[in-house]
Amino acid sequence: MDDMGINVALLGYGAIGQAVHRMLAPLADQARVVGVLDRISLEGAAGPARMAGPAGSAVPVLDLAAATKGADVVLECASPAAVRAYGPGIVGAGTDLLVASLGALVDDRLRSTLLERGPGRCFLSTGAIGGLDLVRASAGTIDAITLETRKPPAALLHRGLGTELRSSIVRADATGAVGHVFGGSVAEAVRLFPSNINVAAALGLAAGNMDLVRVDIIADPGATLTSHAIEVRGSGGTYRFAIENFPDPANLATSTLTARSLVSGLLRLAGHGPLFI
Ligand SMILES: NC(=O)c1ccc[n+]([C@@H]2O[C@H](COP(=O)([O-])OP(=O)(O)OC[C@H]3O[C@@H](n4cnc5c(N)ncnc54)[C@H](O)[C@@H]3O)[C@@H](O)[C@H]2O)c1
Repeated sequence: MDDMGINVALLGYGAIGQAVHRMLAPLADQARVVGVLDRISLEGAAGPARMAGPAGSAVPVLDLAAATKGADVVLECASPAAVRAYGPGIVGAGTDLLVASLGALVDDRLRSTLLERGPGRCFLSTGAIGGLDLVRASAGTIDAITLETRKPPAALLHRGLGTELRSSIVRADATGAVGHVFGGSVAEAVRLFPSNINVAAALGLAAGNMDLVRVDIIADPGATLTSHAIEVRGSGGTYRFAIENFPDPANLATSTLTARSLVSGLLRLAGHGPLFI
């Protein structure tokens, strides 16, 4: 970081990466995108120099070494698998990491490597929900958290789904009937829906205990928004959050709020904006 703001490298350049790039364009004096890491550059395949992004604001595609050298912060907006593969190397190189795919942090070892080992710092995005400050402040006093996530069926389908789950989601879509497609722990939810249920991991991380969180996922053919109904119960009180997000047209599984949360986080890291603590 210098007087001119922070340099950001985007690990992942899909719906979120491109939205963050667009949103930061007019804020370059505070936080600017200096490059993108994609599957090819991360796999270390040497080749001709490439650029990513729209003409006029395209940035170089970087390998990991160039990104950790040239960026103050790597913003992960790829997948939990990418956090597992590259997160430790990024913080180990002394570069800060802002994580969107919080589901990766259900793994105890990875979580402690990223959050405790350094020398780079690891920040967790609030992503598609709010209220995590309250959950964090209540850590140690919480008895149970319930999360009911409701999405259009198309937002829950992904390549890695098993046959049975896929059928129940497709059935909901075909019949128009609301389907309860999952009920269980954060770890199991993240295993089955790795890129769809990061909010569950966010709640567990804020509470300091993933086991406090019960997750239900509903495929709702009538839903146009993604909704998260959250209830936190404990000795300090009962808190309820109802969040209804517009999906990102570029990826229905992602809410438009997520990119805004990441931009807000980056600006905070750059020292701008009110600091709620
Ligand atoms: N915290 C939250 O509330 C929240 C909300 C939405 C999405 N997310 C996370 O953000 C991620 C990105 O969302 P998106 O809508 O931009 O997805 P997307 O599918 O539109 O784009 C993801 C990009 O990352 C790349 N990628 C994925 N895995 C990779 C890997 N292992 N190595 C290199 N590149 C990889 C893909 O090729 C793609 O270009 C999701 O997978 C999800 O885990 C978090």
